[in-house]
Amino acid sequence: MNSYSFFILPFVPLTSYRIAMSYPYQIKSFEVYQSTYQQSIEDPAGFWAGIAEHFTWRKKWHTALEWNFTEPNVKWFQGGKMNITENCLDRHLAERGEQAAIIWEPNQPNEAARTLTYRELHEQVCQFAQVLRNNGVRKGDRVCIYMGMIPELAIAVLACARIGAIHSVVFGGFSAQSISDRLQDAQAAFIVTCDGAFRGAKDIPLKNIIDDALIGYDGIERVIVCARTNTPVSMLKGRDVWWEEEMNKVAESGTTVNFAEEMDAEDPLFILYTSGSTGKPKGVVHACGGYMVYANYTFVNVFQYQTGQIHFCTADIGWITGHSYILYGPLSAGATTLMFEGIPTWPDAGRFWDIIDKYRVNIFYTAPTAIRSLMGFGKEPLQGKDLSSLQVLGTVGEPINEEAWHWYDENVGKKKCPIVDTWWQTETGGCLISNLAGITPAKPSWATLPLPGVQLLLVDENGNEKTAVGDETIAGNLCIKAPWPSILRTTYGDHERCRQNYFATYPGLYFTGDGALRDKDGFYRITGRVDDVLNVSGHRIGTAEVENAINMHAGVVESAVVGFPHAIKGQGIYAFVIYQGSHDPHAHGSDDLIRNDILQTVTRVIGPIAKPDKIQLVSGLPKTRSGKIMRRILRKIAEGETENLGDTTTLLDPGVVEEIMKGKL
Ligand code: WTA
Repeated sequence: MNSYSFFILPFVPLTSYRIAMSYPYQIKSFEVYQSTYQQSIEDPAGFWAGIAEHFTWRKKWHTALEWNFTEPNVKWFQGGKMNITENCLDRHLAERGEQAAIIWEPNQPNEAARTLTYRELHEQVCQFAQVLRNNGVRKGDRVCIYMGMIPELAIAVLACARIGAIHSVVFGGFSAQSISDRLQDAQAAFIVTCDGAFRGAKDIPLKNIIDDALIGYDGIERVIVCARTNTPVSMLKGRDVWWEEEMNKVAESGTTVNFAEEMDAEDPLFILYTSGSTGKPKGVVHACGGYMVYANYTFVNVFQYQTGQIHFCTADIGWITGHSYILYGPLSAGATTLMFEGIPTWPDAGRFWDIIDKYRVNIFYTAPTAIRSLMGFGKEPLQGKDLSSLQVLGTVGEPINEEAWHWYDENVGKKKCPIVDTWWQTETGGCLISNLAGITPAKPSWATLPLPGVQLLLVDENGNEKTAVGDETIAGNLCIKAPWPSILRTTYGDHERCRQNYFATYPGLYFTGDGALRDKDGFYRITGRVDDVLNVSGHRIGTAEVENAINMHAGVVESAVVGFPHAIKGQGIYAFVIYQGSHDPHAHGSDDLIRNDILQTVTRVIGPIAKPDKIQLVSGLPKTRSGKIMRRILRKIAEGETENLGDTTTLLDPGVVEEIMKGKL
């Protein structure tokens, strides 16, 4: 030992120690990617068991994988006992207890930021876990979390996982009605919320929305309310309690138990509601073990995370991206994750660049819609912002157009940062197709190659596999042959719906609902949904859901909703509505008033995120003789097509098409 080190060591501040977390499964070259991929499809069970060895298990699994896609039945790491929070928190304490786990940047730039070290986060999670217990929450209970992007949201999520309660986070943009539907579906008896949430210049009254949601639902035992905005709230005696008070009680009594519930690898970890092509949103269920392994594996490989880096994912924790790449992926990898409360354009369009500059962010992961919206502000907001810390950029949620890709590459990454285009879904738990930053090739607007363990194929309408002849690029519906660890296990309370939705279209395959191209190198480009699901600003919305909401308005007779290309949102919502309200006072005002009434109804039923961009009032809809609405024609009209509407001869009343085209907005 160097005899001087004794004198040198004390001068090094403790927090600067960053003991590298080792990720022996981090792929470091294209060749290794290829051999790893090969190995993963030859022996999926053996491959993922090898990865799972790197986590903390209380008891090892006896069967790595059991599956069939007919029921479907997928089980990973059966017999394994664990708790995901021990992997996200406890196992880091010895080596990186003083390292920042979460850096939180508030909505108001002048408010103090907060940092929670791994030790502090662990402490708060254990404390809130005790609060949940004290309030009656037990393993397996569903807890609805409806909060803004504050550290307490992360704490609430992890505390649920700690005691084995199933969290169901609901995005703050959903209405009371949507929350109520989700509470009923999940049979949730507990809610964690805030008085309100800051979003740019707005202040969203979360607790009041919860109170509205609870008017028709009496299954609630406890609502825990965290103070954030100091918006006035009603606190019902016997039902509502304050987060702060409950935490203090636990702190004062010294009753916090660090114990984490022992979970079976296949026990549900969370439910996340997402839209499909029919009916109400469904509760996608993820299991503890497989989700943990896959979220971690993809975080480490796609972003090529290195110890000490600061990872900034701009998603909201109300969506799957926030679950996997703000919380579980980064924390299980001992990373520093940055959580941001605000919006990209407030107080100005330089907000993201300011944050990157302020914290020396290394990895920046956002949505194409945000990039396109910021592009619209030109280069001025980037001026004077030091983005030199950036090493990796990423996008998610919708196809990225080449123009936005190049703008991102040139202006944000300064042409020195690999961009990962990550394709995945709420149902997949983690990225399934993406380049690995700086390791496998990128191709603008192509998600490129599958992650290890992901066996893709393209099929035609009849489910026949499409194969390329020579170097041609082929198109088809994107399906998956075999399970990866974080595939959804079921849709909550309705397994048949899960089978119908994902495994019945093409028997024996998981169908993604997306169309894709594959080129001669095996690279994939996602072309968009082929079902009746829209992707608006990266948010999934079913056309049927929006139609149901519009149809709830008293004067509406019928409606049809389709998507249309939107320069910033990717897709916009176009609604064709038959309105009849001769005695309705608003019908005697302007059509705008009727349109606003309809918007108001959609906001009430689903939330502001589902508001149509265009509402065209029509006297009829194009229908076949059997009464089916011909959406294909409406889609073309909404897209601005004036000829080539396809065959209209089978229409009941071909004249209606002409009228609709004349009135196009
Ligand atoms: C779309 C978000 C193109 C796709 C993680 C998918 C994408 C749906 C990409 C899932 C991408 C997601 N390129 N399209 N990189 N990523 N999508 O459930 O249509 O909110 O089916 O999950 O978003 O949306 P979800």
